[in-house]
Amino acid sequence: MEIRTIGHDSEEYRRVVALRSAILRQPLGLAYSAADLAAERDQLHLAGFIGAAPVATIILQPLPEGLGKLRQMAVSEAGQRKGLGTRLLQAAEELARTLGLTRLMLHARESALPFYEKAGYATVGARFTEVGLPHWRMEKPLTEA
Ligand SMILES: CC(C)(COP(=O)(O)OP(=O)(O)OC[C@H]1O[C@@H](n2cnc3c(N)ncnc32)[C@H](O)[C@@H]1OP(=O)(O)O)[C@@H](O)C(=O)NCCC(=O)NCCS
Repeated sequence: MEIRTIGHDSEEYRRVVALRSAILRQPLGLAYSAADLAAERDQLHLAGFIGAAPVATIILQPLPEGLGKLRQMAVSEAGQRKGLGTRLLQAAEELARTLGLTRLMLHARESALPFYEKAGYATVGARFTEVGLPHWRMEKPLTEA
């Protein structure tokens, strides 16, 4: 898997949105709106490719005071549990460090808690609902790699 940042208006971005849709939205009977996608224009899109096909995706949204939010983490069904998600998450953390961010947060689906816990993220606060699913806020301080 080759990891690279992709532009918001690129063909690669459209392929990545199709992957995100298949993994994160269609199983819930949901779809991205044009407004959803326009709102992430200024966020940083990272994806892992095998050939031309994206197999893993994540978004980094820099926020004030050294905080970064990770969003839309998804690995293709065939690619799951092979370490690809871990590699992409590490690449997103590295990108965050180079931007000078000092901590990361995310909204984790409850089903993905073991994945993020293994990567050093800890839950903060109480369980809440997003896209109809139980979620937890998780955070991780970014130390020097
Ligand atoms: C969650 C997800 C991003 C993890 O990516 P991945 O490439 O499958 O994960 P990895 O192979 O790097 O897993 C690393 C470790 O995380 C844990 N883990 C990953 N997926 C897990 C799961 N479904 N259940 C329990 N533990 C899991 C395991 O400890 C795993 O190590 P192991 O395979 O040696 O046991 C991916 O499975 C996915 O896209 N799932 C569906 C969408 C989703 O839930 N996205 C997250 C939204 S917050």
